[in-house]
Amino acid sequence: METLIQVEELSRKIEKIFPMPQTLMKINEALNNPNVNMARLEDILKSDPDFSFKLLSLANSAFYGSPNKVTNMHMAITLLGFNAIKNLAIQTSVQQTFGGDKPESCVPTQMIWKHSVGVAVCVKMLSRRLKLGNAEDFFTMGILHDLGFLIEAQFYSLPLSQMLERVNREKYSLTDLESEVLGMDHAQITHLLAEKWSLPKTLTTTLKHHHEPLDAPEENRRSASALYLADKIVMQAKYGFTYARAGETDEAVLALLQLEPVDMEVMLEDFQVEADQFAALLKQG
Ligand SMILES: [Fe+2]
Ligand SMILES: [Fe+2]
Repeated sequence: METLIQVEELSRKIEKIFPMPQTLMKINEALNNPNVNMARLEDILKSDPDFSFKLLSLANSAFYGSPNKVTNMHMAITLLGFNAIKNLAIQTSVQQTFGGDKPESCVPTQMIWKHSVGVAVCVKMLSRRLKLGNAEDFFTMGILHDLGFLIEAQFYSLPLSQMLERVNREKYSLTDLESEVLGMDHAQITHLLAEKWSLPKTLTTTLKHHHEPLDAPEENRRSASALYLADKIVMQAKYGFTYARAGETDEAVLALLQLEPVDMEVMLEDFQVEADQFAALLKQG
C-alpha cells in the first residue's frame, strides 16, 4: 500500500512552516562555542522580549530562591546557568511555534498539549528517582516527545483523526497504524523536527525511540525507557490525550530500569500528586 508521507517533501514542509526559531539558532551557536561570550549571549537574550521575560520570571521564581530581585540578563544567566537557558530556549521555541490559537481541528491538539506537559512532569520525576541525569533536560524531553502529532495535525489532519478513531475501535497499535498509513510514526516525525532544529543528539535519539526504547542505542536506552514509562503512566492517569491500549507496559522496559510492575502503581500515584503541584504552581504565575 502506498503511504502518504514522502520524507523529502515532509522535510521541506517542516522547514517552511516550522522553521528553527531565530533565538534558538543564535543561542545554540553561542552555547556551542567553548568560550561562550557573555556579552553576546546577553544581547541575544535581550533581543527576544518573550524569551527575556520568561528568563527573568524563572530567575525570580521561588525555585531558584535568589535573595535579591533578578533585574537583568547578566544576573539571570549567572543564577540559572547555561543548561537552564538552553532548556528554556527549546521550550519557548516549541510554545512560540506550536502554541497559540489554531483553527478548529478534528484532532484533539489541546489534549495532546496537556499530555505532553504531564509526561514532562512525570519523566522529570522519574529521572530524579532513577538518577538518570539533569532533571530539566528530561522535562524538555517530555514537552517535545509528541510534537510529531501536532505536525501530523497540521499536514495530515484527516488521516490522523481517522487513525485515532480506528485505534480506539480496533485496539490497534497507533504507531503501527501510522507506519502503515503514513509511512512514518509521530516519534520519527518528532525526530525529523528535532534534527532540523539542531537539538542535542542525546535528546533527538531519545525522542525517536520513545515507543520502542529497547531499540535505542545503548547510551540512550535508559532515558528512552524513562520517557516510555512516563508516557504510559500519564496515559493510565488519563491526563490529557489517551487511546485504547495506550497504558499497556512492556515488562522488559521496567526490568531495564530495575523496576517491578508494582512500582508502576506507586509512580502513578506520585505522578498525580506532582501534576497537581505543577498545576498549582502555574496558577500562581
Ligand atoms: Fe508518542
Ligand atoms: Fe506521548
